[in-house]
Amino acid sequence: MDLLEAIKNRRSIHEYKNEQIDRKVLKQIFSKACWAPNHRMKEPWSIKLYQGDGKKDYAKKVIDSYDREGFFNNYDHQKSNKMKEGIRQFLLNIPHHALIYMERDSDQRKYEEDYAAVCAYIQNVQLLAWEAGVGVLWTTSPYLHDNDFARDIGLDPSDYKLVSVLQMGHPLRIPNPKKRNPIENKMQIIDSGETKKADAN
Ligand SMILES: Cc1cc2nc3c(=O)[nH]c(=O)nc-3n(C[C@H](O)[C@H](O)[C@H](O)COP(=O)(O)O)c2cc1C
Repeated sequence: MDLLEAIKNRRSIHEYKNEQIDRKVLKQIFSKACWAPNHRMKEPWSIKLYQGDGKKDYAKKVIDSYDREGFFNNYDHQKSNKMKEGIRQFLLNIPHHALIYMERDSDQRKYEEDYAAVCAYIQNVQLLAWEAGVGVLWTTSPYLHDNDFARDIGLDPSDYKLVSVLQMGHPLRIPNPKKRNPIENKMQIIDSGETKKADAN
């Protein structure tokens, strides 16, 4: 697939077919994405991939987190149970959840480098997945900031940063593209002491 075509046509996917992606295809995507740039060759990304029955435990931990965060506080028992079941079904219907995390470097500059590299890795995953006919949604849900959730999935939050959960599966529906703004609106060219707005050419 042409690079520009992949960049422009990739969409965030919210609805998936009820089928697993071939394990080899998934492994290829996560493996090829490792060619992302990363300072000091730390390759700071790590993945926990929840699928099949593994999603049940994951969904429970997500709902426990929403509960702790007071998401259901304004509802009676019956309503909140219904909401929890809705979230559970929603999560179980997504074929794969790839939780992407990294070690926290105590040096802020290195932490930012690592975070940037992990984001580059994620975008590689998105583009490679798109090329393979696999849809992805890059999510940053509140439970990624819940220390108890991190502990629940076996990661000490003082050592690890949870970056994202990538929802993955074969797309059921591909949304229309959302418009992007011309870069000229955001770009200045500083040339021979003169600052100019970039023109359309
Ligand atoms: C860091 C980051 C976090 C995101 N978090 C969410 C999210 O939590 N939920 C969601 O529906 N989309 C999320 N998105 C996807 C964006 O909403 C999406 O990229 C945007 O609407 C543009 O659509 P497109 O990806 O189809 O071009 C996130 C994207 C990024 C880069």
